[in-house]
Amino acid sequence: MKKIVLFFSLLLLILGCAENVKKKEDSITGRAWWKEGIIYQIYPRSFKDSDGDGIGDLEGVIEKLDYIESLGVNMVWMNPIYSSPNADNGYDISDYRGIMEDFGDMEDFDRMLKGLHERGIKFVMDVVVNHSSDEHEWFKQSRSSRDNPYRDYYHWWPAEKGKPPYRYSLFDPKGEAWKYDSLTDAYYLHYFAQKQPDLNWENPKVRQEVYDIMKFWAEKGVDGFRLDAFQYASKDTTWPELPEGFEKNVIKHYGMQPNIHKYLKEMNEEVLSKYNVFAVSEGAGSTFEDAHSLVDADRKELQMAYHFEGMDVGNSLEGYKLSEFKEVYTKWDSAFAKKGWLSIFLANHDVPRMVSKFGNDSSAFRAVSSKMLNTFILTMRGTPYCYYGDEIGMTNIGFDSISQYRDIAAINGYEKAKTQGADLDAYMAELKFLSRDNGRTPMQWDTTAHAGFTTGDPWLPVNKNYKTVNVAVEQKDPNSCLNYFRKIVQLRRDNPVFVYGEYNLLLPGHEQLYAYTRSLGEQQVLVVLNFSEKPATAILPLGDSPELMINNYPELDRSASTVLLKPYQALVFNIRD
Ligand code: NOJ
Repeated sequence: MKKIVLFFSLLLLILGCAENVKKKEDSITGRAWWKEGIIYQIYPRSFKDSDGDGIGDLEGVIEKLDYIESLGVNMVWMNPIYSSPNADNGYDISDYRGIMEDFGDMEDFDRMLKGLHERGIKFVMDVVVNHSSDEHEWFKQSRSSRDNPYRDYYHWWPAEKGKPPYRYSLFDPKGEAWKYDSLTDAYYLHYFAQKQPDLNWENPKVRQEVYDIMKFWAEKGVDGFRLDAFQYASKDTTWPELPEGFEKNVIKHYGMQPNIHKYLKEMNEEVLSKYNVFAVSEGAGSTFEDAHSLVDADRKELQMAYHFEGMDVGNSLEGYKLSEFKEVYTKWDSAFAKKGWLSIFLANHDVPRMVSKFGNDSSAFRAVSSKMLNTFILTMRGTPYCYYGDEIGMTNIGFDSISQYRDIAAINGYEKAKTQGADLDAYMAELKFLSRDNGRTPMQWDTTAHAGFTTGDPWLPVNKNYKTVNVAVEQKDPNSCLNYFRKIVQLRRDNPVFVYGEYNLLLPGHEQLYAYTRSLGEQQVLVVLNFSEKPATAILPLGDSPELMINNYPELDRSASTVLLKPYQALVFNIRD
């Protein structure tokens, strides 16, 4: 009899909890699947090679679909997979409807997409339309003669007008964005590499081409678009001379002109509103107003901002101050508390590994600080972007010689530094820490040769630490980064407070601890993160009976409201239900 009573009491409790969760969920306003998404970013070149050519491919991703599902993530953003001569690893597209040979073919793509969808995972496509490749048919036509119908697909400056006003190029060995082309005695514009000519968005035909391309992929079933470098699409094409100090606000002088809104509204009307897709712009202008103007729902443009200010913290060999880090994330959160939606990330393919930059990649602290940083990403408001390999705590590779680099930004940057007579040792030291190749080394799957990434020669070397830092080893260890990552992902998925809850910063001036609450309806959670390698104590509003939701250490040291955190400890408490 007792057993029956116990059974029914338990059942009622479970049903009661489920009902509570439901009620909580029903009371949330402005819900959207892309807000509740947890994005796993895959750099396809480096994820898994299935055919032994040393380059990751779509078949490799297909082999790893179960792994991706096992992480608990529900969205994947993949860097470009279109046909490309690879001047900038796929960010120079020669056919927007084709798949890069290195990666496979359209049949592979379709299978991969189907496999993701079968696992409840949405797919976000990278759309690179500020520029194309110079090997795209449009550009080949455009450069062929001044009266070619494609001439106005790009920005040209006739040489008889003299030299065009200076514009800076990010990847040019001389840093110059206008490249002279003798074929038609004119200069074309390339904000990035010479092989990445900028498309002319003022031309309605260009815009229509882009919308058609996006529709092509939306029809195939992709669920979202990440608009690469899109803030540069709208330029001041009167090409004024740049004012002194323009470097301090490059975005303003190089892009974000008023027409960007015309383009995005058009894109929204033509594509985004017609499919159940979302779009995020890389970069978010230079002010909160800019960012809001791109993503607020009533603007009918994009849905999500991806600002760089957080990523720009700590771009120096001296490290960063936690107070600055907290200030940046706090001010962005409050600017978006009522309207708009943000991305939350600490790494991507353009920056160093998260743990090497914001945590501590020494053997003593690598694992625990990786877990702490993942706790940050997964407990903040905004859609989290988790970069492949960060779930196992991959670190910077730290090349010493320029010959080891593959990234055009590093190689051409070195050329430029050399020509300008800059301090090459200083350049190399900075590159060792900040280079994009740090974050592009092959995924570390197991302890076999090349970490199980390829049976051939990897296009970029595998990090030497792969014997200990890899999926196979971490899979077996219940305390590994990988298994912690799965837990914190699940925690976010089970508790909408982490997605929608109001954020409140505690201990703003504390130089070791980042503490905040998230509150939604009745529920309140408290997150405490030690960003340092020293223990730290804090008095925190733990309430009467705090429930520990996650801890990256096996033990917890607290008495009443005082908590003693170990180096890089991360704690999350449910303090009110
Ligand atoms: C931003 C991308 O993230 C980066 O990898 C690329 O080099 C530039 N845009 C140019 O497309």
